Amino acid sequence: MTDQSPPVADFQLVTRAGDEAAQSTTYGIPLAVLAELTHRCPLQCPYCSNPLELEASSKEMTTAEWCKVMDELAEIGVLQIHFSGGEPTVRKDLTELVRHATEVGLYSNLITSAVMLSKARLQDLADAGLAHVQISVQGAEQGLADRVGGFKNGHAKKLEAARWTREVGLPLTINAVMHRQNLHQLPQIIDMAVELDAERLEVANVQYYGWALKNREALIPSFAQLEETNRIVAEAQDRLSGVLDIDYVIPDYYALRPKQCMGGWGRQFFNISPAGKVLPCHAAESITGMEFDSVRGNKSIRWIWDNSEAFNQYRGTGWMPEPCKSCEFKEVDFGGCRCQAFALTGSAGNTDPACAKSSLHAQLFMRAATEAAEEHDRFIYRNFSGGSVEGGEF
Ligand code: FES
Repeated sequence: MTDQSPPVADFQLVTRAGDEAAQSTTYGIPLAVLAELTHRCPLQCPYCSNPLELEASSKEMTTAEWCKVMDELAEIGVLQIHFSGGEPTVRKDLTELVRHATEVGLYSNLITSAVMLSKARLQDLADAGLAHVQISVQGAEQGLADRVGGFKNGHAKKLEAARWTREVGLPLTINAVMHRQNLHQLPQIIDMAVELDAERLEVANVQYYGWALKNREALIPSFAQLEETNRIVAEAQDRLSGVLDIDYVIPDYYALRPKQCMGGWGRQFFNISPAGKVLPCHAAESITGMEFDSVRGNKSIRWIWDNSEAFNQYRGTGWMPEPCKSCEFKEVDFGGCRCQAFALTGSAGNTDPACAKSSLHAQLFMRAATEAAEEHDRFIYRNFSGGSVEGGEF
């Protein structure tokens, strides 16, 4: 997904009756799966969460291949599919894929930038059984939002699509990706989500790996901004209880404990890339040297989940080094984020430096505070031509 974070809050660990005997591990198949239909995207967000190496459209799975994948997902007990990207609406067969998901009993959610949607297409998707729409926003007003997304008139299109979503009767989540340059608009974004009749708002601070790491200087908030954001979110959660659910993801550079990323590696989540790779998290390909099995190979998805090296490498707690190994929180945060550990230390097997118990944490905190104070605001945009610096060459 290019300009938003995954709907982690939706994922839960489920183990069904009878699974125990069939499984070679103690992990039940996740309730929900993220299907990245394409890495193509009209936006150029500086925090794009697609891997640094994008999969070309010529490598994307065909309609028939995705339908076969959905048959298998339904068969092994997955209940929800999140269609994402890149931008999933660039796929001309999206309605067909949604219809197939409905036919095999999968609840489908569309995670979209919404700039390519029309009301007629939303109606077709609703008629095909789409159950939910999640639209990302880059700010509360057009100038800033269009600048962040690198797409002219994108904000106006998103608002229009959000209204159409409700008019065709679909529930709506607004996903607001937050950083130093748009946090001041958070109160207006909250008002906007209420005005658009969204049922949920995700206030998701940028996480710094992959492309976002290239833009950390331009995006990292100050500690004071984070404190103010915590206050705004807590007040809004209280005031809007019963009107708007607000999920909140902080930038964990300033936290004491790391986030429980993906609910723990290989515990609650997997996603399938446009070319069919089965990944433990959407950013897993940023960990160089790790090999991933594909649905195009001869192994079943169930086998890959239970047995593949990539899933088992950081599953559970057995892989942990100190201080994680003897930490009382090791089964709470599962050692934090493997992708962040790799990005910041060069090894995914190290303690996530976002944890205060890491010897690198104080340094990380200081670096974040320093970068935020320096106010280098120019973005390096993400695009298929390898990236471009805002207002100049790359
Ligand atoms: Fe990959 Fe956190 S994003 S484990």
